[in-house]
Amino acid sequence: MDGASYRAIQLEQFARTFRDATQLVHLPKIAPAEGQIRVRNIWCGVNGIFDTQIARNAISYIDIATPSLTGVEALGIVEAVGPGVADFAVGDAAVTVQFKGGYREENTDSAANFAKVPDPSRDWLALASTGVSAAIALEHVGALQDGETVAVSAAAGGVGHIIVQLARLRGCRVIAVCGGPEKAAFVANLGAARVIDYRAENVGAVLAQEFPDAIDVAVDTVGGAVFDAFLQNLAPLGRLVVAGAASDLDDTPELITAPRVAHQIYFKGASIRGFMNGRLTELWPATRERLFAMHAAGQLNLKFDSEPFEGLETVYDAIDRLLSARSIGKVVVKLGDA
Ligand SMILES: NC(=O)c1ccc[n+]([C@@H]2O[C@H](COP(=O)([O-])OP(=O)(O)OC[C@H]3O[C@@H](n4cnc5c(N)ncnc54)[C@H](OP(=O)(O)O)[C@@H]3O)[C@@H](O)[C@H]2O)c1
Repeated sequence: MDGASYRAIQLEQFARTFRDATQLVHLPKIAPAEGQIRVRNIWCGVNGIFDTQIARNAISYIDIATPSLTGVEALGIVEAVGPGVADFAVGDAAVTVQFKGGYREENTDSAANFAKVPDPSRDWLALASTGVSAAIALEHVGALQDGETVAVSAAAGGVGHIIVQLARLRGCRVIAVCGGPEKAAFVANLGAARVIDYRAENVGAVLAQEFPDAIDVAVDTVGGAVFDAFLQNLAPLGRLVVAGAASDLDDTPELITAPRVAHQIYFKGASIRGFMNGRLTELWPATRERLFAMHAAGQLNLKFDSEPFEGLETVYDAIDRLLSARSIGKVVVKLGDA
């Protein structure tokens, strides 16, 4: 291909893995039309669980036809500006958080689908995507109040490590669940009051012993026994936010026989709430700007996984890394130089 093309990862068919469902394609560079900008991407963010569900056509609210571009978030530099665009100039840094906007070396799209960021640092990418999810799940869906007791699973992950910090900033007591001593040390350093390494301790037993009926807000992205343990230890009026179910990814959902959850929540006046960020887009701009301001003020410590990935073709390995449950912090891929 000549210099007038760029590479992207395209969903070609549905398959069990993202690797089997997609391929790298070359697409022609296009000039921005009225209201559009063209961005050359520097970073993209990896959402390995979502990507796998997309590959399996397993996300009920996204009607996806093949072929389709993939990935959600990317940050880059504005390379060209179409007629009628006042908000962006060539050389600005811009981030997008739109499905199909992530796994591609460049993106020509409506300027309305981008937000301007101060510089091409991956920090803004993590905040605009993962940070916004963390904040909306915890604060809006979880209806967090200052000083409450918060439980979070996958606490050392991209979403989880930001939830721990946002809760701490609100004066909350944080119970953090994660797998392995390295992750446990990391979240303890973020200020979690109790870290439960589920590989070493039984989450349900610890909560029943140390935090019976004490969890005001739980944000769970793992499911299974962690969901059960959070539910069983909700405080009166507690809120359990279902923000994912990573443990179901390996198999079909586990079938269980147990009393209906209605019994668990009724007398407590507790609730179980679903969180799906794509259904709350109206909250994104204000949440993003608030997180950007907090970060500029030095209030947030963003962690990126230590395994480096560079070049669009490494997205596959980056997804595997996230799915391995060994990554700590946000997984990103470098796509180009600033
Ligand atoms: N609802 C929404 O709108 C929304 C938006 C963004 C993200 N999410 C969800 O939030 C979760 C966190 O996303 P993230 O991108 O920040 O990922 P992440 O937390 O950085 O990585 C996933 C973590 O989940 C845990 N996990 C448990 N079972 C797993 C399994 N079978 N396969 C892989 N990981 C497993 C692992 O941590 P431990 O071993 O330490 O538990 C792993 O490190 C994901 O489940 C994602 O789908 C939901």
